[in-house]
Amino acid sequence: MLRTHTCGELRKEHVGTEVTLCGWVENRRDHGGAVFIDLRDRYGLTQVVIGPPEADAAQIDAAGHVPAESVILVRGKVAERLVGKTNEKLATGEIEVRCPELKVLNTCQTPPFTPSQADLPGEDLRLKYRFLDLRRPEMQRAMVLRSQIVKTMRDYFAEHNFIDVETPILGRSTPEGARDYLVPSRVHPGDFYALPQSPQLYKQILMVAGFDRYVQVAKCFRDEDLRADRQPEFTQLDLEMSFVDSDDIMGLIDGLVAKTAKEILGKDVTLPLPRMTYEEAMRRFGHDAPDLRFGMEIIDVTSVAQKTEFRVFRAVADSGNFVRGLRAVGAAEKYSRRQIDELTEFVKDFGAKGLAWFRVEEDGSLWSPIAKNFEQDHLAEIKSLMEGEPGDLLLFLADSWEVTCKGLNALRKRLGAELELYKPGDLHCSWVTEFPMFERDEETGRWVAMHHPFTAPLESDFDKLESDPKECRAQAYDLVINGSEAGGGTIRIHDQAIQSKVFELMDIDEATAEDRFGFLLNALRFGAPPHGGIALGIDRWVMLFAGLENIREVIAFPKTQKASDLMTEAPGQVDTTQLTELHLRTLAKKAD
Ligand code: AMO
Ligand code: AMP
Repeated sequence: MLRTHTCGELRKEHVGTEVTLCGWVENRRDHGGAVFIDLRDRYGLTQVVIGPPEADAAQIDAAGHVPAESVILVRGKVAERLVGKTNEKLATGEIEVRCPELKVLNTCQTPPFTPSQADLPGEDLRLKYRFLDLRRPEMQRAMVLRSQIVKTMRDYFAEHNFIDVETPILGRSTPEGARDYLVPSRVHPGDFYALPQSPQLYKQILMVAGFDRYVQVAKCFRDEDLRADRQPEFTQLDLEMSFVDSDDIMGLIDGLVAKTAKEILGKDVTLPLPRMTYEEAMRRFGHDAPDLRFGMEIIDVTSVAQKTEFRVFRAVADSGNFVRGLRAVGAAEKYSRRQIDELTEFVKDFGAKGLAWFRVEEDGSLWSPIAKNFEQDHLAEIKSLMEGEPGDLLLFLADSWEVTCKGLNALRKRLGAELELYKPGDLHCSWVTEFPMFERDEETGRWVAMHHPFTAPLESDFDKLESDPKECRAQAYDLVINGSEAGGGTIRIHDQAIQSKVFELMDIDEATAEDRFGFLLNALRFGAPPHGGIALGIDRWVMLFAGLENIREVIAFPKTQKASDLMTEAPGQVDTTQLTELHLRTLAKKAD
């Protein structure tokens, strides 16, 4: 070992000890003949002093020329800092290392930014120089947190008798609904592997093989439009179990949530985690992953809208659509007319045509530019349905079910943040269950599986597969943390007749099903036990447990919104020989 201690380790009790430290020069100050260096490693910072009497003039001069972010080794004695020079913010703030000896292990050329600079550089620069960015304490904390969360998960599943099995990366297309990343085959001209969107099919086959509790920390690849909480390659804690129902899986994950919250954040979580159905989530919050850190539920006032003279409400209610609203408690004062105009523009981005609003005045009456269109009785009814109190702001969208859901969900999230209805460290975890089996693909008009085509319907809804597929609900469950989908799974179909029915509904004929997932269907014919599972988005868990809003902050080497790695410059060109070997020719012209 080059070093005796880390830069976060030394305390008062070490005073007088000879130590050797290694690390990076965070900063350097020259003070009247002595050089002070803050030496950093991932454990902390230690102040190093190169000055008389320990060091001679040449050594002091040399120390004064070490560039920032160089890697050095220092050998010296731990000393108590002078009175008034201690630093309470630093774990090592009571001591310093006085050293005659400083060895530069490697110099650093002038960096584009330093890990300690106050203003964060632009994200592109951070990603290009990720090795410097990862030196920042925030990034180091995120990586440590990630490692701890994954360890907690691995320990938990090991305690519960799960077996860790690796599944292939080069495989066939999996049915998670995103576009595949393809890998051309050299030895099978014209054929392609697909990178797994998840280990879904393999894990089901492991159940057929008798491994009744499988778990894996699995890399998944999906070529889809990226957002702040989505990466083209991400990591799942993936599991599957045999002889279980939805309650068993949710109960198991409840235990993991409680353990992780306790071990990582020191928080107690009350179990079982609350559950609500998809229908309830959409009705009360307009979204299938509601943020339950705060209330502000959607309230339906269509029954009153039907009776009013206000053209917009009336027309919408008459056409079988909805008027639904939010009560922003005490927000009337906080939102000026101009700010409400901004909210109106905001909801238009989600398809709304306008935003109707009322202020509840001191005398309890409702005030709004549109109030004149309403009879007093109807205003009173609206206020009563909304449980409005003086000082509240009531906001309404009149539109289809989908638009009111989308618009009010977005508005609710925005108001929740702006009105500070939750605190930074708050953690709320819950389940959303009974998702619809199918949704309509807008482009083709076909039924597609909302989760994936191996999801079992609720037993009570079996007959709806034939009679009313839209109303057929699945044995599906999503874990929601602070309004983010942190995991999702289902109980699978193990009955061939039901599987055929589902394929039929989705217009997947037998030949196509055999071609795409024949190997799974085949395995299911060889003694498949009832089984189900779930996958947790590890990147999202870490992001949420860290209280961050950008998934890239918890991934060592993430990709940009355009799926590029700015450090390695992937994806990149390959030479024609490689392409020829792969039997490929590209149609794209390089834009240079
Ligand atoms: P699903 O597609 O719901 O289910 O994925 C499970 C969880 O993975 C996370 N996730 C993502 N995280 C980051 N970037 C992405 N692009 C991304 N996509 C998904 C989410 C999500 O809840 N095979 C099924 C699981 C099962 O049925 O057992 C599956 O993959 O947190
Ligand atoms: P208009 O009569 O279109 O000028 O609209 C009068 C008020 O109703 C404005 O404040 C609009 O923002 C609002 N409004 C219009 N359409 C809708 C709608 N579909 N839902 C809610 N409010 C609306």
